[in-house]
Amino acid sequence: MFSTTSTRLTGVALVSLLLAACTDFSPLAPDVRADSVYTVQAQGQSAVVRALTRASVCPAIAWDGGAALPMQQRAAAAVAPLRAGGAQSDGKEAVFNVLTCEAAWPAGVLRARVAGVEVPAPRQEIRRIVIIADTGCRMKGSENAFQACNDAEKWPFAQVAASAAAKKPDLVLHIGDVHYRESPCPADKAGCANSPWGYGYDAWQADLFKPAAPLLAAAPWVFVRGNHESCARAGQGWFRFIDSQPWSEARSCNDPARDGDADYSAPYAVPLTADTQLLIFDSSKTAGVAFSSTDAAFQKYSAQLQAVGQLAQQKPNSFFMSHHPLLSVALVKEGKKPKPGGNEGLQSVFSARFPQRLFPDGISLALHGHVHVFESISFKGAQPASLVLGNSGSANEGKPPQVLPPGFQAWAGAEVEDYAARGDYGFATLDRVGHSADWLLTEYTVSGVAVLECAIASGKSRCKKLSP
Ligand SMILES: [Fe+2]
Repeated sequence: MFSTTSTRLTGVALVSLLLAACTDFSPLAPDVRADSVYTVQAQGQSAVVRALTRASVCPAIAWDGGAALPMQQRAAAAVAPLRAGGAQSDGKEAVFNVLTCEAAWPAGVLRARVAGVEVPAPRQEIRRIVIIADTGCRMKGSENAFQACNDAEKWPFAQVAASAAAKKPDLVLHIGDVHYRESPCPADKAGCANSPWGYGYDAWQADLFKPAAPLLAAAPWVFVRGNHESCARAGQGWFRFIDSQPWSEARSCNDPARDGDADYSAPYAVPLTADTQLLIFDSSKTAGVAFSSTDAAFQKYSAQLQAVGQLAQQKPNSFFMSHHPLLSVALVKEGKKPKPGGNEGLQSVFSARFPQRLFPDGISLALHGHVHVFESISFKGAQPASLVLGNSGSANEGKPPQVLPPGFQAWAGAEVEDYAARGDYGFATLDRVGHSADWLLTEYTVSGVAVLECAIASGKSRCKKLSP
């Protein structure tokens, strides 16, 4: 004879079974809530679903409405002690009070659900790409720079993400600098009052997972690593949450003695179409001055550039992505003479191998962030057109020149043929034109109004302003 308790438990178990049947979840797999569920596009055709949960076990994932399977743990919840030699003097331990879970997307699967949530699926065909960069809310004690994170106009990333999601992309590119809340908000700054700070999950949630939720739900993301995600800064969160490779202690940024490896990631390719691919380059540890050829960084970046050259042979067209630009126009005070921008550390490495073009053959477009403006620069010579797309939320640092003097060179011999720039916040889309190898870049305001269009074809970018 059953006791009352066991009868009640049997009833609960029965309800659980019925609920599990209704939600595609096996009673053997934990039905665990997730804070965030998103898809990271990795090398080649591979993609990985990630879920962040405050539970002690990973949630289940159901592929194409099939049986639910537990996701695998990527990184356990942990408290990372304050790293020695951190970027900010006001650092603290990093509390990662979520479990990072993951599951590799199986080939041929079209849909997936985690904890009742539809997961963004890799598309069979990429036609529209959303591009953002430099998105977090700047709180940096060493520069006394505190953005008004609580003000949706002064830190507009949530609106940018919502507007970008409304464009229904097939893929999202984030070209680095996701995390910005490094220092505590001073008592006299109401604009950032009560913001989380430091390198733990709460600041990642405030800078990325909450504001970007609609865009994370819209499509898989390619994440490019920025200097804010170097090991001395938010590198631990980078590897826990958004790096595309498997997590390992050796490349976790937990131990500063291993930064020499963890600060550099191997480049990889993501195919877009039969003839075009993205090449993703980790420039997070570069410097604003030229490297000596005997520097360890020079040698690591040289080896990675060689790998880029080999990857570029896989398709007729490659779009190179690094957070730091190589060919750009510097921000200058109004009335001052425009001058070349570009990261001198990367320039020293790339020019050693490709003195004029800077890039290997086959790279027809370079996409970057780091400078918090929009620039499209196209050259008379063989250099690939260069895009700077770092205006998606983090504090604007000035305006780019609107006009360049005739004959302006962004690099020795790199005379500019076509140039467009904008200093306001926004984001961009890249749309494939028909079935050709040509693309159309559109730059939008925060609310999603198109303001510039640039035809991207044969290594050139030609822009026109759109009338309001
Ligand atoms: Fe940056």
